Amino acid sequence: MCGIFGYLGKKDNAMEVVVKGLQKLEYRGYDSWGVTSDLDGELFVEKKVGKVSEVKLEDFRDKKTSIAMGHTRWATHGGVTDANAHPHFDTERKIAVVHNGIIENFQELKEELGKENFVSDTDTEVIAHLIAKYRKDNPFKEAVLKAVKKLKGRFAIVVLNVGENYLIAARRGSPLIVGIGDGEYFLASDIPAFLEYTQDVNYLDDNEMVVVDGGVEFLNLETGEPIKKRLVNIDWQAESAEKGEYDHFMLKEIMEQKETILRAINQDEDDIMHVAQKIRDSRGCFLSGCGTAGKMCMAGEYFFSMIAHRHVNYAPSSEFKIYHHFLRPESLLVVISQSGETADVLEAMNVARSKGAKVLSLVNVEGSTIARQSDFSLHIKAGPEKAVASTKASTSQMALLLLIATAMIGELQEGRRILVDVASKINDILNPRFLTYIKSVAEKIKDHENAYIIGKAENYPMALEAAIKIQEVSYVHAQGFAAGELKHGPIALVTEGTPCISLVANDEVRQDVINNTIELKARGAYIIGISPENDDVFDEWIKVPDVGVASPLVNIIPIQLLAYYIAVLRGLDPDMPRNLAKSVTVK
Ligand code: G6P
Repeated sequence: MCGIFGYLGKKDNAMEVVVKGLQKLEYRGYDSWGVTSDLDGELFVEKKVGKVSEVKLEDFRDKKTSIAMGHTRWATHGGVTDANAHPHFDTERKIAVVHNGIIENFQELKEELGKENFVSDTDTEVIAHLIAKYRKDNPFKEAVLKAVKKLKGRFAIVVLNVGENYLIAARRGSPLIVGIGDGEYFLASDIPAFLEYTQDVNYLDDNEMVVVDGGVEFLNLETGEPIKKRLVNIDWQAESAEKGEYDHFMLKEIMEQKETILRAINQDEDDIMHVAQKIRDSRGCFLSGCGTAGKMCMAGEYFFSMIAHRHVNYAPSSEFKIYHHFLRPESLLVVISQSGETADVLEAMNVARSKGAKVLSLVNVEGSTIARQSDFSLHIKAGPEKAVASTKASTSQMALLLLIATAMIGELQEGRRILVDVASKINDILNPRFLTYIKSVAEKIKDHENAYIIGKAENYPMALEAAIKIQEVSYVHAQGFAAGELKHGPIALVTEGTPCISLVANDEVRQDVINNTIELKARGAYIIGISPENDDVFDEWIKVPDVGVASPLVNIIPIQLLAYYIAVLRGLDPDMPRNLAKSVTVK
């Protein structure tokens, strides 16, 4: 949710470096962008509505400077206009600020600072004005320290002051990572933005500030005291964050599922056993996440129940607060997050911790806030996921949950065997013929405005996840239902030709789902069956391998492809769906 990027170092094309970095952060927000620099003591600014990916890098190449910063926006306060695009400035246009997050007391501060001096509708502009106010009587660093103390809400900011050759960044609640190169420094919302230059990073924690000049100095935001940070080496390859031969990140990431399941289950046995033991020992275990990660938690609820005969409670993180009555020091919260930065998940963790409960996490971004704030964290190792619609991270999350469930009953090796088999079968189905077939199904349903998906037991969460996938990239109104719930209302929505997707596994509830599918067909539905076996009721049969209890991992893959192709055939960009952001760092 908004991408920020700052550069200071030996390169003399800092603006080009920043724009390129912003292009890699575009998945975090893409309604407008902006870049600024100190060009020989003058502030250079370019900011406008539109996508930063459409900006030509060479337009910035001849602007010789070694310091610059920029922003790609996902609007929260103020409409999508050039004036509201970041950076924002003080009245004299000396101090520039880029910001990710929300300043909750901005109206109050705006009144105090004289709202007639403001040129945008954003909450961010107050930060620049506040720093300018304190800068009158303080050095730049102290002015920033004093200003951030006045801010309520969440922020990651980078600040530049014309004539002072350094960048200052601060964080409370929104991510900011410092890349340490050879004589150069990067400040970014996410690692892929600077991965081509360095893999050495320092994670800024909440209430920390960093001053970047010829080196880096970390300070506590409250006390101004220096702090020591640990340098972390990231083992992502730069190419893994690029599109490569694919038209879209979404398709690339779907295809990467040929390898990601194996990476996810390649875990230290002691770590898996530790997590399994913690779940077993807990008195009241909750699984929580948001969006797609939330649906994977729900799948986990079924895996734990079916495999380990252990009841855990799933709650979306944004709803978790109401469970505080049930939380005790013996309770356990297991959170799942691709980015490791989702604000609602962090809030759920705070609720659990305030009751003395322990928190475990499954994250894709190592060193992310959720990982660092957990008592124990497993890394799902899916590699950078850039498309807004989560695909490979979700199947990796499920793989790990299934592995943990088997470990809970002392069957870890059997769990591995099941998942190795799943990985190899996913590798087999992701072939050109399969993709062509799914595209042909997408062609048949792409002009329908409604689609319904049904599933039962462990495939019920997949029906819900399928709806999210289709909604978010193709804007088709899709809804997922528990197959048995159809007759209690949803079936009224089905008319002649309505596409309905039925997720059928070779399990004990197979016939129930087929019966519910027949009910849909009787109302005229066009049935797309995703199943290891064909059935007369299917108008289209998408054949998936039979992988037993792991069926959600294979059933969701054709849905991901279907959503992708519907979007493309409707002329939409699946990587940048409207109104959405990859990492939601606001509540
Ligand atoms: C956003 C994304 C979703 C994602 C959800 C949770 O809404 O658009 O794709 O599932 O956040 O994100 P997380 O990073 O916590 O998994």
